[in-house]
Amino acid sequence: MFPEHRPRRLRTTPAMRRLVGETTLRPRQLILPMFVAEGADAPRPIASMPGVVQHTRESLRKAAVDAVNAGVGGLMLFGIPKTRDAAGSGAVDPDGILNVALRDLRSELGDATVLMADTCLDEFTDHGHCGVLDADGAVDNDATLRVYAEMAIAQAEAGAHVLGPSGMMDGQIGVIRRALDEVGLSSTGILAYSAKYASAFYGPFREAVDSQLKGDRKTYQQDSGNAREALREIELDLAEGADMVMVKPALSYLDIVKAAAEISPVPVAAYNISGEYAMVEAAAANGWLDRERTVLEVLTSIRRAGADLILTYWAAEAAAWLD
Ligand code: PBG
Repeated sequence: MFPEHRPRRLRTTPAMRRLVGETTLRPRQLILPMFVAEGADAPRPIASMPGVVQHTRESLRKAAVDAVNAGVGGLMLFGIPKTRDAAGSGAVDPDGILNVALRDLRSELGDATVLMADTCLDEFTDHGHCGVLDADGAVDNDATLRVYAEMAIAQAEAGAHVLGPSGMMDGQIGVIRRALDEVGLSSTGILAYSAKYASAFYGPFREAVDSQLKGDRKTYQQDSGNAREALREIELDLAEGADMVMVKPALSYLDIVKAAAEISPVPVAAYNISGEYAMVEAAAANGWLDRERTVLEVLTSIRRAGADLILTYWAAEAAAWLD
């Protein structure tokens, strides 16, 4: 008798496929990144990210509640200030847009979701880098750490449950952990953007936050060809006190996600970033891809690689589909 082995038996009906499915994708595993713009009087569309907007404080509240009702596991907030300076002072100001919006959402949602904040200066600096610059115009690691410590306290005090340091400065997790603990904010968690690559796929995000960056971030974000370096970054962040670690971007780095999942004793997140979103949206808008099927396949593949959590602009919509 040939064929002797028939794996297709386990694919015969939807019920059979459901029974033997290896990978789960649940709404609680999805985190929705959201943008809020200071002084905006109406939500502003982001052209390269169809369906994503820069929110006003009011529209943010409403969209956040809707996302939580759809079942997402958490929200990750980014602020777009009206004015920027070299020091990124809007980031540490309790009245800065990101901190104000955190307070809005915490008072609206309490502990009904996990509220996260991007702990990074690039939205707040007039040069667009993730840190402050030294006299030669290079990103000054240790001077930046001092600002991150202050920014972290401001965000935690404003109501963030979890901080997401995304600037790839050496020592950022340790400095933030210590700063929080020193002022009694020891229950605020840290989701470390541990392995973050200098990626062309961040393109649409630059539009989303009106980035002022000229040049690139290659002195702090990793080269795309490096894998071993990612594991070192993850180990350092764990040693410094990270509660969760992240790999970013997701799709071109699924091998890194898998390697991270193999060594990490804490939850691993992957960020399905703006360019990954834009590619699918553009192709779907042209009728070249089936949007819903493609999105679910993308998210499932990130889970299959080993990510416990996925940051994705599709979080609320996908949560509704999965429900
Ligand atoms: C830095 C930050 C970036 C993203 C998240 N946090 C931009 C960058 O590093 O250039 C990108 C997210 C995306 O592309 O969806 N604050």
